[in-house]
Formats: sequence, structure tokens, C-alpha cells
Amino acid sequence: MSDNTFAKDIHKGLTAPLKHISSKYFYDDIGSGIFQDIMKMPEYYPTPCEFEILSLQGDQIINKLDFEKPFNIVEFGAGDGTKTRQLLKKLTERNIDFTYVPIDISKKAIGELKAGMYQQLPGLKIEPMIGNYFSMMEELSHSAIPALYLFLGGNIGNYEKPEVDNLLGDFKKSMRPGDQLLIGFDLQKNPATIRCAYDDPKGITKAFNINLLHRINRELGGNFNTSQFDFYSHYNPLNGEVRSYLVSLVPQKVHIAQMDRCYDFERNELIWTELSKKYTINEINQAAETNGFRVIGHFLDCKHYFTDSLWQI
Ligand code: AVI
Repeated sequence: MSDNTFAKDIHKGLTAPLKHISSKYFYDDIGSGIFQDIMKMPEYYPTPCEFEILSLQGDQIINKLDFEKPFNIVEFGAGDGTKTRQLLKKLTERNIDFTYVPIDISKKAIGELKAGMYQQLPGLKIEPMIGNYFSMMEELSHSAIPALYLFLGGNIGNYEKPEVDNLLGDFKKSMRPGDQLLIGFDLQKNPATIRCAYDDPKGITKAFNINLLHRINRELGGNFNTSQFDFYSHYNPLNGEVRSYLVSLVPQKVHIAQMDRCYDFERNELIWTELSKKYTINEINQAAETNGFRVIGHFLDCKHYFTDSLWQI
């Protein structure tokens, strides 16, 4: 057994009573490309909703910022920056002095983001950081420059409740009095709307999930026959949870060279791949309160599908 974390997590997940693979492994270069395609799907409403919030309510958000001197805008999981740029544009138009600090694990993603930002907003001060959230938060906790933290896109929905509390605790630890946090939450809505966003007719979300198996084949020497797996996702309107799964269509054994062993799958056995939690405004207020934050405001799109919520410690 190698000491590679990916291999260890896959081994642990495929030997658990309910097999699972963490959704953080979706985002290799191929998976990140498929996620870009998901964000362009007509059914995937979170992207246009958050774009609308940052485009149409950027000024209201800025009016609630509380910085007296130059500050950093630190973005976790910046993606291609299209949505964030709407907010940055408003700030530059208002001659507000700030530096944009996007954080991403992928050097390639940061390079593309930087090039795109310079092209659209030539005067922008940008100081990217490459690494994982947790080591970057630790580094930022020593910064003397005030900061607005951004955690957009509804990424928080991919964390289980105890992980949400850990993550918010980590944000709190790295924030200083006066720092603020803008977090995107996908809201509960007509269940059919949510179901369609995660079970699209073209099978793009299925391809996103199946790429996990391709990734194991590529990086760990697996021999998954991906045509023997299907995709299933389920929204439970009673608790706001979308849970996604791969389904083994036949009884099968899969060999993974790196682990030098086989994993057995029964017919219809599930591999749980993702939680995408949808929140109520009450749940958001409660998450803020239990983790020691004060809610400054919720900024919703016109359909009330999504909110970017501004918090302060
Ligand atoms: C990144 N994250 C917020 C997306 C979501 O909606 O949970 C990932 C995704 N999974 C399937 N479609 C999109």
C-alpha cells in the first residue's frame, strides 16, 4: 500500500460498509473541465443565480463592507472568476483600494484566472496563492491586512454538518475583528428544479461522476469498466440533501494495481460520491450563530434560489 492520500482514501472508501469516494476527487483537470460544462447547463441554476446577485447587488454588498484601509479579497476555490469579477469590477469603478487574492490548488487554474482577470480588469492588483484551503488559512491568519473572504458557488453544500462546523471554525480562526466573509448557499426550492440540476438529460453530471472511476484507472492503475456503472442522484426535500451515487450494474471485481488488490461489487451496490445540501435561511442563520458569526445580510437572486450571505465575526 502506498502512502499516497488518494490511494488511501479510495481504499478506505471502497472497503467501507457503504462504499464512498469523496467529492473532492472530482476536480482533476478533466473533472474540472466537466464541472465547467455543468455550470453552462440550462438546468444548473446556481451559476446564473449567483452571477445575477454579484452583478445586480454588488453595490449593496460593497455598501455593507466595513474596511477603513486597503484590504484583501481572499477567494477560496476561485474557479474561472467570471462571477467574482462582477464584484471586483464594481469595486474598481468605485476606486476602492483592494488586492484580489485567489486561492486554488491548481496552478493551471490560477494561471488562467490571472490572465482572464488582467484582460477584463487591467488595473486589478492580484496576488494569487496556490495550495489547499487549510494551509492557506493558517498562513492568512498571520496577515495584518484586513480581509473579505469569499467562499462562493455553494461549495459549502458539499460538506457534511460536522465538516461545515470545522470549516467555519477554521475561517473564524484565521479572521481578525472587522474581517468579513461572503458565503454562497444554494437554497431549498421546488424539489423538481433541484432534481433536474443534478440529473441532467445529456448525462453531463453522470460523466462528472464516472470520471472518478477513470481517475482511479489513470492514477492508481484500476481496471474499472465504466460501462458497468450507472449514476443515480436523489433529492430529499425533507432535509434539503441531494446525494449522488455510482451504481454497479452487475456483480463484479475491480483490481487496483497500486493497492495490489481487488474490490468486490454486488449488483446494484452503491458508491456514494457527493452531498449537495440545500439550505433554508433559518439554517444559515443558525450555522452563523453556532460558529460565532454575525449575519450582516443575505443577498438573494430574484427567484430566491440562491443567497450570498455576508457575515462578520
Ligand atoms: C461545486 N459544488 C457546489 C457543485 C454542487 O452543486 O454541489 C458540484 C456539482 N455536483 C454536481 N453538479 C455540480
